[in-house]
Amino acid sequence: MENIKSSASNLAVDAAPNGDVISGAGSHLTSGLGHLVRANEIDVSHGPILYLEDVNVSFDGFKALKSLSLSIDVGELRCVIGPNGAGKTTMMDVITGKTRAQSGKVFLGQTMDLRRMDEPTIARAGIGRKFQKPTVFEQHPVWENLELAMKSDKRWFAALRAKLDAAAQARIEEVLSTIRLEDSAYRLAGELSHGQKQRLEIGMLLMQQPQLLLLDEPAAGITDDETMELARLLNSLRGRCSMMVVEHDMDFVAALSGEKGKVTVMAEGSVLAEGTLDQVKRDERVIESYLGR
Ligand SMILES: Nc1ncnc2c1ncn2[C@@H]1O[C@H](COP(=O)(O)OP(=O)(O)OP(=O)(O)O)[C@@H](O)[C@H]1O
Ligand SMILES: [Mg+2]
Repeated sequence: MENIKSSASNLAVDAAPNGDVISGAGSHLTSGLGHLVRANEIDVSHGPILYLEDVNVSFDGFKALKSLSLSIDVGELRCVIGPNGAGKTTMMDVITGKTRAQSGKVFLGQTMDLRRMDEPTIARAGIGRKFQKPTVFEQHPVWENLELAMKSDKRWFAALRAKLDAAAQARIEEVLSTIRLEDSAYRLAGELSHGQKQRLEIGMLLMQQPQLLLLDEPAAGITDDETMELARLLNSLRGRCSMMVVEHDMDFVAALSGEKGKVTVMAEGSVLAEGTLDQVKRDERVIESYLGR
């Protein structure tokens, strides 16, 4: 898969999830497994881009995550479902460094220990996150929202300080087309429908070229047509980045996971079941705790 580099700096690089010790210094590190990993690149040589093992989070004694283990392969689009309070958002908070896990392993690829990285460093390492509520700059045109998103990416900053050069312009146009908002490029973001704002916010994340996108209930509160348009967008991102989508809308989940995609069901802070959507829908424990009879 292409596009597996990231531009992170000051990343903690030591023990890999499988216990291998990464040694070496400078721009190349030897993983001890016979392949070279450049510092700041996500090492997905073993498959997983995200690896959680035995993760625990307590809030004043209440266990929001209980021995949570889960792994997502590079290129995967993983849907996560589960009842309210299952810990889905808390899991995303732990991955992005917003909440600290008390114990467990949280790795990006083989080598990046996310528990040792702060929020901005994790974002720079290639994790983009979309919260439920769209956060766009309402008073600015759509294309300017994309430009502003690019400005926070230091790889583009030098170019933008001078002028919006051809490469940056091309990138904005490409993303506008991906999110299907070409016709709205000059409209104020505040005038967009809720579903269009959701797509714009995903576009803003794409400007940063994330390796892993985390989306928390992106289809909440949008119309059925917009929900299917959003599913089309996320499906079109396959191959460009890996994704984790938390969602309650089962039609949306079906449109994303297809017949073969893996779906994770969380309940009470851990993984209750994992399998295709059909498999988990038939699981007695899932019916009991989430889907109902
Ligand atoms: N900062 C916090 N302080 C105390 N309790 C918290 C905090 N964050 C989450 N919790 C609790 O942890 C549990 C898990 O919450 P979380 O938001 O992760 O669930 P969720 O699966 O995302 O639910 P939903 O589907 O409703 O969004 C809940 O009981 C919640 O009240
Ligand atoms: Mg939540």
